[in-house]
Amino acid sequence: MFSIGSDCVPLHPTEAEESFELLLPPNHVKSQFLLHPFKKNSYFRLDLVHQKMETKRRTFLKQLGSLTIGSTVLPYAMQSSAVAAENNFEHLLPPYNEGEHFWAFVRDQFPLKKSRVYFNNGTMGPSPYPVIEMIKKSLIEANTEGEYAVHEASREKLAEFLNAKTSEISLTHNTTEGLNIIALGLPLKKGDEVIMTSHEHVGNAAPWLNVAKLKGVIIKTFIPAATAKENIDRVNALINSKTKAIAIPHITCTTGVVMPVKEIAALGKSKKLFVCIDGAHGPGSVAVDMKELNCDFYASCGHKWLMGPLGTGFLYVKEEMLDVLQPYNIGAYSIDTYELSEQKQLLGSYAPSAHKYDYGTQSPYLYQGLAAAVNFVSLIGAKRVAERSRTLAQNMQEQLLSLDKKIEMLTPTETQSRGTMIGFRVKGMELSEFEKKANQNFFRLRMVRESNLNSVRVSTHIYNNFDEINEFVDFIKKV
Ligand SMILES: Cc1ncc(COP(=O)(O)O)c(C=O)c1O
Repeated sequence: MFSIGSDCVPLHPTEAEESFELLLPPNHVKSQFLLHPFKKNSYFRLDLVHQKMETKRRTFLKQLGSLTIGSTVLPYAMQSSAVAAENNFEHLLPPYNEGEHFWAFVRDQFPLKKSRVYFNNGTMGPSPYPVIEMIKKSLIEANTEGEYAVHEASREKLAEFLNAKTSEISLTHNTTEGLNIIALGLPLKKGDEVIMTSHEHVGNAAPWLNVAKLKGVIIKTFIPAATAKENIDRVNALINSKTKAIAIPHITCTTGVVMPVKEIAALGKSKKLFVCIDGAHGPGSVAVDMKELNCDFYASCGHKWLMGPLGTGFLYVKEEMLDVLQPYNIGAYSIDTYELSEQKQLLGSYAPSAHKYDYGTQSPYLYQGLAAAVNFVSLIGAKRVAERSRTLAQNMQEQLLSLDKKIEMLTPTETQSRGTMIGFRVKGMELSEFEKKANQNFFRLRMVRESNLNSVRVSTHIYNNFDEINEFVDFIKKV
């Protein structure tokens, strides 16, 4: 039960019981304890667990006679927990109603270093141990067998998680790839108009600007507003007889505005427009249900709010759109048959599913890691994950709002329009100066220079806690 991955020396539970103090943590900081896997209400003291592991590690390294390996395994070994080698830690989770204790346990499943406060999930969501372990396991298996597994189970898992059909999911490598497939594959021609925001990430901006360049499509933009109603009105105001598509983010990367995607999709569909969503900040940050959103296309990645591996993503294509969206990059798996000989040159039919948009050999390690990430979020509960991250962000926003002499808040305060990312400016201070000070004080944030915003973005996820938020607010007070 204490096995902690292939780099480390496993610790057997009976051995652990002999050498570790078993106790009930009454009013201590519970994150310093590890729940006993078998005994109800029993805990191991984490410091003793780590001490023991360190002794074992040293013995192990001595036996190996290698210091190079030691330097790479140390942080991992020191921070591993009982769930490291398991993909299912449900039986170890403390009861949800234990509040901060529950979330402290969740935090302990992440190797993410504690020497700085990580508030940059909007760029990259660090993975928890079960994801990392799954990638390692898959990597070792493939290279032991000389065979690699297909990753169709990951497609199924994602589909289930998103309330979509498996045939509507294409496995991509990032959000941008999905957005390119949409922008290039739609039947758009010169003069057709596409509605976007003026706060796009380059990953959504570039594919559509490319289509404007290649086909003469015209892009119309609106500035994201502070309320859902105003955002719907702004989209509506841009729709005319030439409009063919709406291509907006679910959540803006600049100030974290949560767009009323369901309502905008309904508006778009009522006007027979293609509704394309850049969902880079969707799944894992909000509970995403494709049937409920009812958009035509939704592109996202595994490496942000799902906390999966870098290099994974997906594209949802609504069933009715599978014959409309042309695939431009195809290969093995995206067609049923082909022939290329002196006598005959034939391309068979495209796969009758979103599999037509992905092709060739993909990484089973990464997609199995993504499935493990979906599993991790699902075990805690997608709604709980979203609620926790939102609660933390809201707390941060409320505290910052009370510092109105220092802070200009950019993220909406309307409940429906705010999520897990807070954007603001620090009054009277250059952004680069603030960035330097934040780094010196061990806060990892994202500076937003897009759209000339020159603002700060703070993201909160389940591995963050209220203490970190208070620390940050104190820093802002002093800066
Ligand atoms: C809103 C938005 N769209 C698209 C992207 C690009 O995502 P990816 O790196 O997965 O292609 C990002 C990345 O931060 C983003 O924030």
